[in-house]
Amino acid sequence: MTRRIWLVLSVLLLIAISHLEGKANPSSEQSWMRAYIALKHHALMTRLTGSDLTAAPSTQADSRIVGGTVAPPHLHPFQVAILQKNRPNNYRAQFCGGSLVANQYIITAAHCSDMLAENVAVLVGTRTLTGKGTSNRVDVSEIYIHPKYQISSYDYDVAVWKLAKPVYGIPFAKLPVRGTDPRPSTSTTVSGWGTMKYKEDDYPRELRSVSVPGVERTTCNSVDSYNGAITPRMFCAGQKGKDACQADSGGPITRSPSNKILIGVVSFGTGCGWARYPGVYTRLANPEIFDFVVSKLPP
Ligand code: ARG
Repeated sequence: MTRRIWLVLSVLLLIAISHLEGKANPSSEQSWMRAYIALKHHALMTRLTGSDLTAAPSTQADSRIVGGTVAPPHLHPFQVAILQKNRPNNYRAQFCGGSLVANQYIITAAHCSDMLAENVAVLVGTRTLTGKGTSNRVDVSEIYIHPKYQISSYDYDVAVWKLAKPVYGIPFAKLPVRGTDPRPSTSTTVSGWGTMKYKEDDYPRELRSVSVPGVERTTCNSVDSYNGAITPRMFCAGQKGKDACQADSGGPITRSPSNKILIGVVSFGTGCGWARYPGVYTRLANPEIFDFVVSKLPP
């Protein structure tokens, strides 16, 4: 019930904002779904920190994903882009990422998923969001959101989408072993078409990636960091200047050496690449997350 009220309020706010900003703002060229996701994320950060910390540029790193490069050719072949279906331009339609885990299923974030399946599409098997062409677009037939997903905390931020038809010839991401965690020293890699600078519409056409160090849960939960908001369904990774950012949500984070094991899903962060605020990811090895995902996948 409260979730429904919140949704209605945020949609109304979004409509109000788009009216205020009008046609002069080039970002209105971007997917409204992207704006909607950013708005929800902003509201979360305000709730978590109790103030609009994301408005304070003082701790912002000068950063470019943030701090990454164009993804190497063989990294994350299972990466997909999630698109607003009624926008023919893939670059403008993209609003989240995801990972192909079976020939007809992707994993993404729950906060990318409060859409009707008929209004979204998935772009598979590409590194580049070219302006035209819908050949790699696949429709979505079902969206399954974790039943315990909380919009107020982004706890259980995971969803499984079933594609309208299977796709072939693309390697799948592998799930981690249930209940495990990579050693803290393990290097992890996150990728996406998200903005390269916090609060700027600096979206790349080429898939980008950055390697990010794991951050201990206790460190990430400390009072001068996320102050207890990091649940067992989450983990933190990143350092100053290296992070995921807006529109990377739902996309993959994998671990070295092969980067074939999907350990998490881009979920949230205060700013992007800020000191003391690493990226927060949905932890796929968490038993409740893992069991939900597996229950939606074919045997
Ligand atoms: N929720 C954001 C999105 O919609 C993802 C934010 C990730 N931020 C970060 N600093 N790691 O795209």
